[in-house]
Amino acid sequence: MYKTLNCGELRAAHIGQTVTVAGWVHRQRDHGGVTFIDLRDRSGLVQIVGNPANAAAKVIQDARAEWVLQVTGVVRQRPEGAENPNLPTGEVEIDVTACEVLNPAKPLPFVINKDEDVDENVRLKYRYLDLRRERMQRNMVLRHKVVKFMRDYLDERGFIEVETPMLFKTTPEGARDYLVPSRVHPGHFYALPQSPQQLKQLLMVAVIERYFQIARCFRDEDLRGDRQPEFTQLDLEMSFVQRDDVLDLVEGLFTAMIPAVAPHKRLVSSPWRKFSYSEAVDRFGSDKPDLRFGMELYDVSDVFASSSFMVFQNTLKSGGVIKCLVVPGCAEYTRKEVDDLTSLAKEFGAKGLATLALSAEGVKGTAQKFIAPAEVEALQARTGAATGDLILFVADKRAVANKTLGGLRLHFRDRLKLADKDVMAFAWVVDFPMFEWNEEEQKWDAAHHPFTMPKMEDLGKFDTDPGSILSDAYDMVCNGYELASGSIRIHRRDIQLKIFQLLGLKEEDIQLKFGHMLDAFEYGAPPHGGMAPGVDRLVMLLADEANIREVIAFPKNQAARDLMADAPSLAMDKQLKELHIKVDVEPPAKPV
Ligand code: AMO
Ligand code: AMP
Repeated sequence: MYKTLNCGELRAAHIGQTVTVAGWVHRQRDHGGVTFIDLRDRSGLVQIVGNPANAAAKVIQDARAEWVLQVTGVVRQRPEGAENPNLPTGEVEIDVTACEVLNPAKPLPFVINKDEDVDENVRLKYRYLDLRRERMQRNMVLRHKVVKFMRDYLDERGFIEVETPMLFKTTPEGARDYLVPSRVHPGHFYALPQSPQQLKQLLMVAVIERYFQIARCFRDEDLRGDRQPEFTQLDLEMSFVQRDDVLDLVEGLFTAMIPAVAPHKRLVSSPWRKFSYSEAVDRFGSDKPDLRFGMELYDVSDVFASSSFMVFQNTLKSGGVIKCLVVPGCAEYTRKEVDDLTSLAKEFGAKGLATLALSAEGVKGTAQKFIAPAEVEALQARTGAATGDLILFVADKRAVANKTLGGLRLHFRDRLKLADKDVMAFAWVVDFPMFEWNEEEQKWDAAHHPFTMPKMEDLGKFDTDPGSILSDAYDMVCNGYELASGSIRIHRRDIQLKIFQLLGLKEEDIQLKFGHMLDAFEYGAPPHGGMAPGVDRLVMLLADEANIREVIAFPKNQAARDLMADAPSLAMDKQLKELHIKVDVEPPAKPV
């Protein structure tokens, strides 16, 4: 080894010993001819001192930021007053006796020894430097701990990890596929899996019974702060289970894991709360509610049943609802502040926003003149609104009112700092609709995926009212994010076929795309179900990062590019020829 111990491990107990360390120059400074270096490796920093009387000191003097050095020296107590209580190695230093430059470094594109804001494009281009920064090192270690905990926990409970192929066939999860052309089968393509969904179900038919995998998934979809084109799931599946068996297992895993890997986080409520999809959307305006704070939505349609306000009257007449949100302590918002809220409400899809301010001087707000004193009283009784509060109303179709007020609720979460970042408010959302109507294509889509079991009692509604069929799908939500999804699966050929048909798949397509699933269901498929927590999203929350890229070693940017290696890139003519591919772009892509 180039080192006898790691930089960050040095303690008072080593005083007097001769040690060899190796690492990167974190910081270098000169005090009257004596050179000090903070030498860094993954374990931390240690102070190296080069006395001019010593020949080795010359090497240290010339070293610059991020040079790689091997240093031998004697560990000694730091002089009184020079200790650094903020550093685990702060009691000691190494008096250098020999030093070798293992590799110098060019001047850096950004500083590594401070947590400064650096343009993300530069960070991604030099990701190997960016990853040297303390914050990123911490994130990588945390991610490792999370994954290790998952593996150990599941191993102890009889799960086995099985690898499934990357070169496979389309596995629909609602995104576009990444395709890989086959050289030996001209014109044929593999699809990279959007998830191992089909394969893990086939593993249940294969009597694996309890499967998991730290699985890479690929999805060509619009990227956001919490999405990457390739990401990692803790994918798991179990045979002979019902919904709550899966939920209990995953809840147990997360409840044990969070204190072990992120002790500063606090879990609220055990057991976790459970909401039906419709209850979550009605109470919080979202199917992934942030439950760290209250501020629920109220349906006050009945309060305004005989309202004189035309907007309310017309909405109720046309079958809509009036819902409201009580914003604590904001009755004195200015005209401009209320106008800005109205614009925000319109961005969320509402036609307008009516307000009622319960000011100390009396009731004010845009809706004041239309709301009778008895209605104000009824509102207060219903919502608990008190003097000083501002009530926001949206009158619209139920879905629009929910979406708008749900969006405003999150706006106030951030604006009024209502959510504690160290709280992890987990909950289950269950009883999702089975299908969603796709306006654009005028057809039904699977709300989760087509392998999800509809509620048995709803099976009769297939031909009459598919929109009202509920499924045995569930989501794990936390702090406003969907962290995991899963479902009990279909294990009967007849039901699976019915779902494919309802989704508008033609008979030959069903056979072509999913024939292997239907076949498998005829050879003794057990009842089964599972779920898949997103590892990246979870680590992002645990690391207090706002973007998923911060917890992925080599992420793609918002435009799905790897800026470091410059991928995707053009293929060589020879490769394209072998693959029987002609590139049809203007201007023609040049081979590289
Ligand atoms: P689903 O598509 O809901 O379900 O994905 C499960 C979880 O994976 C994470 N996730 C993502 N993370 C980062 N970037 C993305 N683009 C991305 N897409 C999804 C989320 C999400 O909750 N096969 C089913 C699971 C099952 O039914 O067992 C599936 O993939 O945290
Ligand atoms: P109007 O009659 O359109 O001028 O609207 C009167 C007030 O009601 C304004 O403050 C609007 O922002 C508000 N408003 C309009 N439409 C709605 C709606 N659908 N829900 C709630 N408030 C609305």
